Amino acid sequence: MDIINKIHNANCLEFIDKYINDETLDAVITDPPYGDNEGYGRNNKTILNNESEEINYKVIPLLYKKLKNDTSCYLFTNWKFEHKLRNFIENETDFNIRMLICIVKNNIGMGYGFRNQHEFCIVMEKGNPKYNSNDFSNVMKMQHINHNEDTHPHEKGIKLFTDIIKHSTKKNDLILDCFSGSGTLAVAAHSTNRNFICIELDENYYQKSVTRYNKAIGGSFKLDTNIIQSSLFTP
Ligand SMILES: C[S@@+](CC[C@H](N)C(=O)[O-])C[C@H]1O[C@@H](n2cnc3c(N)ncnc32)[C@H](O)[C@@H]1O
Repeated sequence: MDIINKIHNANCLEFIDKYINDETLDAVITDPPYGDNEGYGRNNKTILNNESEEINYKVIPLLYKKLKNDTSCYLFTNWKFEHKLRNFIENETDFNIRMLICIVKNNIGMGYGFRNQHEFCIVMEKGNPKYNSNDFSNVMKMQHINHNEDTHPHEKGIKLFTDIIKHSTKKNDLILDCFSGSGTLAVAAHSTNRNFICIELDENYYQKSVTRYNKAIGGSFKLDTNIIQSSLFTP
């Protein structure tokens, strides 16, 4: 099955294990459910597998196996889980943690006492990857993307993803986003001439991301039927 430059509607844990060969990825850039079990925005939208950070512990070792040697893995999280994930990565996996990027948003979150305005991205390395710039800050800015009842509550900015892609990969490299949501990575990879594999479990966001990607490439990529039907909605 040709899985490259497609968005797949599947449970990534099963899809990665079954369809992605070991040591084939040039990078992973992914934004998993953080685990904060929240409803987002006025519509109180939820994200699948966001009840806890558990899915992160399951996917990280798989990503290590599928990456080539001397590559990087960018994993988004927030201040509540960053220390737990770092502890897990350091003690339970073969990744080395290279950097913690702070992503500063232009909007400020809801709350009292303190209101959140940043997210984190843990940069993990398998081997000794090379980077394309010596001038890449560990503070990045991200424009907030308003969401409504139709759109994804955690959509990341295209520029954030393209900056990371350009820093860590070369043209025609293969990048995985196994929690692809609204399809930001697919659009960013296309615009930078990289190949991608995107996986999204939620059928609604999967369909919307395919529409978004089609619009971006001016093409007509067909909706895939669920590759791993039986696994839908299980972590
Ligand atoms: C934080 S969001 C990603 C948002 C994305 N970066 C964007 O720009 O739109 C995490 C996504 O992971 C999806 N997800 C949860 N469990 C999954 C699984 N087992 N396999 C694939 N996707 C999953 C959720 O449905 C959600 O859309």
